[in-house]
Amino acid sequence: MYRLLLIATCLLCTILTKAQQLVSPNKQFVMVFSVDEQGKPLYKLQYKGKDVIAPSHMGLDLQPEGKKITFETAGNTGGAAQKEINSLYDGFKVIDSKTASFDKTWKPVYGEVNQIRNHYNELSVTLQQNKTDRKIIIRFRLFDDGLGFRYEFPEQKNLTYFVIKEEKTEFAMTGDNTAFWIPGDFDTEEYTYAKTKLSEIKAKNEKGIDGNASQTPFSLTGVQTPLLLKTKENFYISIHEAALIDYSAMNLNLDDKNFVFQTYLTPDAQGNKGHLQSPCVTPWRTIVVSDKAGDILTSKTILNLNEPTKYASTDWIKPMKYVGVWWEMITGKSTWAYADIDNVQLGVTDYSKLKPNEKHGANNANVKKYIDFAAANGFDGVLVEGWNEGWEDWFGKTKDYVFDFVTPYPDFDVKGLHAYAASKGVKIIMHHETSSSVRNYERHMDTAYKFMVENGYNAVKSGYVGDIIPRGEKHYGQWIVNHYLYAIKQAAKYHIMVDAHESVHMTGLQRTYPNLLAQESAKGTEYEAFGGNSPDHTTIIPFTRLMGGPMDYTPGIFEMDISKINPDNHSHVNSTLARQLALYVTLYSPFMMAADFPEHYEKYKDAFQFIKDVPVDWDDTKVLEAEPGDYITYARKQKGKDAWFVGRTNDEEPRDSNITLDFLTPEKKYIATIYADAKDANYKTNPQAYTIRKIEVSSKSKIKQACAPGGGYAISIVEK
Ligand code: NOJ
Ligand code: CA
Repeated sequence: MYRLLLIATCLLCTILTKAQQLVSPNKQFVMVFSVDEQGKPLYKLQYKGKDVIAPSHMGLDLQPEGKKITFETAGNTGGAAQKEINSLYDGFKVIDSKTASFDKTWKPVYGEVNQIRNHYNELSVTLQQNKTDRKIIIRFRLFDDGLGFRYEFPEQKNLTYFVIKEEKTEFAMTGDNTAFWIPGDFDTEEYTYAKTKLSEIKAKNEKGIDGNASQTPFSLTGVQTPLLLKTKENFYISIHEAALIDYSAMNLNLDDKNFVFQTYLTPDAQGNKGHLQSPCVTPWRTIVVSDKAGDILTSKTILNLNEPTKYASTDWIKPMKYVGVWWEMITGKSTWAYADIDNVQLGVTDYSKLKPNEKHGANNANVKKYIDFAAANGFDGVLVEGWNEGWEDWFGKTKDYVFDFVTPYPDFDVKGLHAYAASKGVKIIMHHETSSSVRNYERHMDTAYKFMVENGYNAVKSGYVGDIIPRGEKHYGQWIVNHYLYAIKQAAKYHIMVDAHESVHMTGLQRTYPNLLAQESAKGTEYEAFGGNSPDHTTIIPFTRLMGGPMDYTPGIFEMDISKINPDNHSHVNSTLARQLALYVTLYSPFMMAADFPEHYEKYKDAFQFIKDVPVDWDDTKVLEAEPGDYITYARKQKGKDAWFVGRTNDEEPRDSNITLDFLTPEKKYIATIYADAKDANYKTNPQAYTIRKIEVSSKSKIKQACAPGGGYAISIVEK
């Protein structure tokens, strides 16, 4: 009997160690999981019969228990004995394996489409490490457009509290793919995207992106996710993570001899990569693949890997189109600070004694001007930055207690302005620049949110400029990842919506916490006033940055010559005016700014009409044309209305766009208003040359439209 049982167990072991396959519902993807002779878990991914991810190792490396590790020593692998105890990447055997299928459609609170199908086949493998008697589960979900997998740590005696030294997930490429990437970094994603072969990443990083090497270059072959790759078969691969909660954000480190990416988590001040307590799970690692670039853009896999919303009600969450007292500070025309900083003694506390600065932007008269403009043109909100005390001190960088988020400058009348805005149906949008003093922000957060509610605010733009305090922590480490989510959840208690700048990359958490309307997390329009964005930037970020969620890009600049605003600023906005309109369609966000000054919009009233008309919430989205780094054309259907909006952005090449309006309801007639580059338009030399024409269209119509270098077009299509 015992012998029989033994034979049966061995047989089961062989079956389970054998490679296991998971096939996607549409059969286009096959994921193969196995454990090698050393007990190392491996996966590979095939798409349309070809490997897109070659066999890649999985697992984690832990810090030795009880040993204090510094950043310098964190790179040491430790002795062999330690490795046996601390490795969670070898010595495994499969002891259980389960499959499941899921197919449900859900409705997002806002979005690019009004319903999302969550359809996948699942394999969860339980692995046992005999030497340590530890168990982990690797859960794979294979969708019709790609794979998600994560590590799960069930509650167990030998793995209760543990510290991650490094996650050892690999993404092995099958060749020297083309990559669209920004350098590995723990604090900023505000880089220009590079397009190079994998074999060229090191040299490009060495030279530096944007003229300066990465601030925290953990490796010259380090890159951030979302990462986009294109293979020699013209397959597009997007690698990222979903549901980043209580864990450090992932960078990738490339072994450029073998073209294998390995996870490199953000370290904390001690060099550790994460403190975990079982039962717990890691974020999902995601690989979205298609032979059509547009399918990458419409993938919902990252959202689907996040949990449904936990909020009992979401009717208080509303997409917003807004203007603001902002571009004038960014361009240097106005200041955030109330006082003349040159005359301020650092560490100032008595603001009433300060000499006012004539250039202070957030003054009552100026804010009223923006409120009037918002009301007259149908905007929901007015963002006001530089309204509160602290900017003078912050620039002095003397202490971690700078802002209290409730004390206005003398020339900003909180109650009066709220009453004025409310009388015109406009909301003022709060601004919390935390100066990255995160503990200070948390200390003041509840009072600050209460203050918002009392004064009629329902949305906050937060910011994390500068080094994180507590010192030594990084913007993408576990501790501050937890802070960002705490700020969102806490805001929800007050029915406040959040737009965070300089926080960690988005990972689809807006499904679970839909009051996280948008984030920055990339180079936005502000860089057009800091030297200019490269013209292909907006043809890349939908494939990279926006894979994780909406971006507060703040488009809509009509005056490209910044020296006309501030003679000391010689920056130039690298876009035609028509393309600025297109960005409202191509860069999805439920929190969308019209960033330029009212007087610039008054000057080009006919073009401004598009910004007035374009909605910020959609029933449906189609990608009509797309090639990363070259061009993108989107068509989106307005929520609850038979109206469509098309946007096209172009890189620095002149290109023709050819589209068919077959997304329109057949047999119906529509009027299309086309806002396009004029023949002689050019982003550098003639950006404001545009034409507007109205034509009757139907689902059979085709439009051929020339786009200028750095140009594009926008179309609004309404029922006739
Ligand atoms: C950087 C943000 O991106 C920008 O939008 C903001 O105005 C400044 N920080 C000041 O908080
Ligand atoms: Ca920024």
